[in-house]
Amino acid sequence: MSIDEIRREYDRNSLHEDCLHSSPHEQFSLWFNAALAATELIDPTAMLLATCHSDQTLSQRIVLLKHASEQGYVFYTNYNSHKSQALLQNPQCSIHFAWLPLERQISISGRAKKITAEESDTYFASRPRGSQIAAWASEQSEPIENRQTLDAQYEAVEQRFANSEHIPRPPHWGGFIIQPDHYEFWQGARARLHDRYSYSRNVQGEWLQQRLQP
Ligand SMILES: Cc1cc2nc3c(=O)[nH]c(=O)nc-3n(C[C@H](O)[C@H](O)[C@H](O)COP(=O)(O)O)c2cc1C
Repeated sequence: MSIDEIRREYDRNSLHEDCLHSSPHEQFSLWFNAALAATELIDPTAMLLATCHSDQTLSQRIVLLKHASEQGYVFYTNYNSHKSQALLQNPQCSIHFAWLPLERQISISGRAKKITAEESDTYFASRPRGSQIAAWASEQSEPIENRQTLDAQYEAVEQRFANSEHIPRPPHWGGFIIQPDHYEFWQGARARLHDRYSYSRNVQGEWLQQRLQP
């Protein structure tokens, strides 16, 4: 089969005005809970994060959502990484959830800012010890000669903390919150007549909904 013959109908669900929540975060929560419950979906918290450096170069990568509220969407990373440098220069960014078995996508754009050191400490303390060691051992986004060198860096950190029950959070590791200013919800529908709704803030800061053509 050639690539251009690969296609399927989208007909699992529909999305209509009368069942759409007036708060985009509530609508997100409804779909997020459905994604968590869907057994055919692995990594439902995975989201694509797109960033734009101040020199206008774009990049994107998957990160894991760790907290969601009206205030925004939180993920954790290395603050020296490529993505963090981009966000610190230009906080405007976009996240995207592709829940394809449910024939749904959500795209959210907004501005990223660091969460507090205390919030990052609390989450770091909840991580498995191996992940805590890796956060110290990896200079995320920097080149490295080979796997052996990376493993040696990990072992050096493991030894450094061998006698410590508590591993502190590295100062260069923590969370960002993406404060939303635009949402789009997409539900696949028959014959490619998909349902799309966007939410944007008006000047009073209220959310305005619009149906978009597919
Ligand atoms: C399923 C999955 C989950 C990931 N979760 C994270 C994460 O939560 N935080 C993170 O920094 N990188 C995560 N990564 C790795 C990133 O995609 C990326 O490779 C890394 O953060 C370096 O990106 P950067 O060089 O653009 O900063 C994940 C990758 C995958 C495939």
